[in-house]
Amino acid sequence: TWRSYYASIFNPARLKVKAMQAEMPKKYWRNLPEASLNKPLIEGAERAANAMIAKAATEPHKSQKRLEPVMPAKPVRNVDDIETLREEAAHCRACPLWKDATQTVFGEGPHTARIMLVGEQRGDKEDLAGQPFVGPAGQMLDRALEEAGIDRGKVYVTNAVKHFKFVPRGKIRLHQKPSTPEIKACRPWYERELAAIKPELVVAMGATAAQSVFGKIMPINKNRGHLMELGEMQALVTVHPSYLLRLPDAEAKATEYRRFVDDLKIAAAVLR
Ligand code: URA
Repeated sequence: TWRSYYASIFNPARLKVKAMQAEMPKKYWRNLPEASLNKPLIEGAERAANAMIAKAATEPHKSQKRLEPVMPAKPVRNVDDIETLREEAAHCRACPLWKDATQTVFGEGPHTARIMLVGEQRGDKEDLAGQPFVGPAGQMLDRALEEAGIDRGKVYVTNAVKHFKFVPRGKIRLHQKPSTPEIKACRPWYERELAAIKPELVVAMGATAAQSVFGKIMPINKNRGHLMELGEMQALVTVHPSYLLRLPDAEAKATEYRRFVDDLKIAAAVLR
């Protein structure tokens, strides 16, 4: 009976002789009643597997048929939580930027955030710290958010591209604008962050962020300063805080900073 059973459960389509021998070393074969079956089973495996393939699929026995669920199935949770995403993104190799960057810097903020701020990509400080907007651009952003009446602790802050792109210049790492393929390669992370956080408003800061958020090139000056419908949420476009840092003229800097704060006040009004 045992030998018949052994022969009947042998699956010729999954034959792995080495694994069989590892489980059952040849020196023990003479003590095992089923061992003498191995040779004919192995030799006939290819023919038996071909015969299985040639046969039409059979209907499962009535008792093995799956019952139709009486209750509706539980909805599948297909939205990730941010910690799972952060962990997954740490190993992202979707574009070559991971090679030179220190680490993936994922978004940060409460999962209940009603506003999501999107920047371009990490700067040097963020790359080292592993947190978004903690360098000079981050300080500028913090100041503007405060003036606009937005508590940074209540918004989710992320970037369109999660790795730092730069060219080395001596000891300095010079920021480089991400290319369209790099923005596209990183977009799935933004989409998954969006699905997890479900903000009411997304604020795209700068051209790279706007390209990722809208999925196309959006000129900033033409589109800034007003709310736009984007699927189930609203979107707002404004400049990137680094742009303000780069302006050489103090007067232009002050004017542009005011405009930036005014844009953020539109976001603040959404919260109210
Ligand atoms: N610039 C960005 O776009 N993001 C950061 O995190 C820092 C600077």
